[in-house]
Formats: sequence, structure tokens, C-alpha cells
Amino acid sequence: MKIVVVGGTGLIGSKLVPLLERNHEVVIASRSTGVDTITGEGLADALAGAQVVVDVSNSPSLEKMVASAFFEASGCNLMAAAKAAGVQHHVALSAVGTERLPESGYFRAKMLQENLIRASNLPYTILRSTPFYEYINGIVEAGSDGDTLRISPALVQPIAGDDVALALRDVVLGQAQNRELEIVGPDRFRLDELAQQILAANGDPRLVIADAQAPYFGAILRDDTLIPGDHPRFAPTRFEDWLRRYVAQVLAPAN
Ligand SMILES: NC(=O)c1ccc[n+]([C@@H]2O[C@H](COP(=O)([O-])OP(=O)(O)OC[C@H]3O[C@@H](n4cnc5c(N)ncnc54)[C@H](OP(=O)(O)O)[C@@H]3O)[C@@H](O)[C@H]2O)c1
Repeated sequence: MKIVVVGGTGLIGSKLVPLLERNHEVVIASRSTGVDTITGEGLADALAGAQVVVDVSNSPSLEKMVASAFFEASGCNLMAAAKAAGVQHHVALSAVGTERLPESGYFRAKMLQENLIRASNLPYTILRSTPFYEYINGIVEAGSDGDTLRISPALVQPIAGDDVALALRDVVLGQAQNRELEIVGPDRFRLDELAQQILAANGDPRLVIADAQAPYFGAILRDDTLIPGDHPRFAPTRFEDWLRRYVAQVLAPAN
């Protein structure tokens, strides 16, 4: 089977590609491989003869205007190219809570991406994930306010990027579901506590202040905004085990 991984050089894409390459023909489609979903460059050639397209691309900026222009143009071009190529399954990675975050420009852009897929008439599966452990540093920096950090204490059930890639592999190799599925990590945390744990691991002395009004991608979170529905798939890797590996493999060699 020929599978095109759009964004195959990114965090999740680079974990997914080796899982698929073992038994399938995989084309990595990103600007660095000559495929641009915004200009359309290289898209038709990349998709020719493909059965499945999996979209794990992301906007170069999370700023609302950039993100919405990205997901709209990219989605329209991808859907048109996938239809022209006779693709049988379009898979996309989205986020748990997307429909509950209309005040966030980034999440409105993700909803736009999802809506384009649902309206396309292509067989599809949208996998919605909770925040990746790898992204918690990004959440921390977004809450930075000098020497302190203001982070929402909302509940979150984050997940390891490796587990997202494994779940995506199963979706890619399965039948189109024509609906949204959810994937979450094994444990629930308060976002501010998670932020404090990663700061401690980084040896960063800044203090996290729990602030229910602190924005998350521009939106105020309710306690359950980032919590999945009743039937998510649960991933196995615990945050404490991921953090131990992160300290040993990422932080230690850098010091
Ligand atoms: N971070 C989280 O916690 C989280 C949680 C749930 C869902 N998600 C979703 O997961 C998806 C993947 O995230 P990620 O962190 O793996 O992304 P990432 O590491 O930022 O990678 C983005 C990929 O998109 C490619 N790309 C960017 N612009 C492109 C263009 N115009 N044409 C073709 N490719 C382009 C990049 O390659 P080039 O630069 O070479 O083009 C790169 O391969 C995103 O859609 C995000 O919304 C993220």
C-alpha cells in the first residue's frame, strides 16, 4: 500500500514513518522533501497512486491568523489533490477539546481543518489527541510572565508522542471510520502541576502559579475542556516514565 505522510518530518510524522515503512511504500511530504500544501508544489506527484494520506502537518506559527490561513489553504489543496488521486482514506491528527475551544484562534483553525475533511466526501478518520508530553515545555513558555508562570489548573490527560504514532499507525492501516476517535494518556493531571514537574526536571527555578484565568492558546479552560469523551483509546506510557527518559536522553547529554 502507498501511504503519504504529510508533515512526515515533524515530531509525530518522524515517529510514524518508520512504523509504516516496515511493510508499506511511504512518501514523506513536507516542504523539506519538495511538497508544499500551501502552494500545491509537488502535491499531485506525491499523492499519485496513494491509497492513504495521513496529515500530521502543522502551521509554522500558532498565531491565529497564520494558523487559520495555513489549515484552510492546506486542507483545501490536500482534499482536492487526494480526490484527484483517488485516495481511499484520509487520516488527520487533531486535538481533544477542539470543539470546546472556539475562543482560541488556533483551535478554530483546527476545527476548520476538521470541517474541510468532513465536507470532502472522502472516507476519513480524524484522530484527536490530548497534548503530547513533548509539548509541555511549549505550554510552560506560553504562560511565561517574567520569573513566574501563570498556568491554568484545568485537568489534562497528556500522552507520549510515541504512543500517538502507534495509534495513528493502527488508524492508517484500518478502515476509514468517518468519525472522530480520541487517544489519551493513562493519567490525569492539573496542567499547572505538570508544568511545575517539567520545570523541576529542567532545573528551572521559576515558580508556577495556578491561575484559572490564564489563557491556553488564547482560551480560558474549564476544568474539563481538555478531557476526552466516554470512549477514548488509552495509551500506556506514563508521564513519570517518559520524564525519566527525557532527563536521561535529552537533558543529560546536553549538559
Ligand atoms: N502538540 C500537541 O500537543 C498536539 C496535540 C494534539 C494534536 N496535535 C496536532 O498534531 C499535528 C502534528 O503536530 P507536530 O507537533 O508533530 O508538528 P510539527 O513537529 O510542528 O511538524 C509539522 C510538520 O508539518 C510540515 N509542514 C509545515 N508546513 C508545511 C507545508 N506548507 N507543506 C507541507 N508540510 C508542511 C513540517 O515540515 P516542513 O517544515 O519541512 O514543511 C513538519 O513536517 C498538528 O496538526 C497538531 O495540531 C498536537
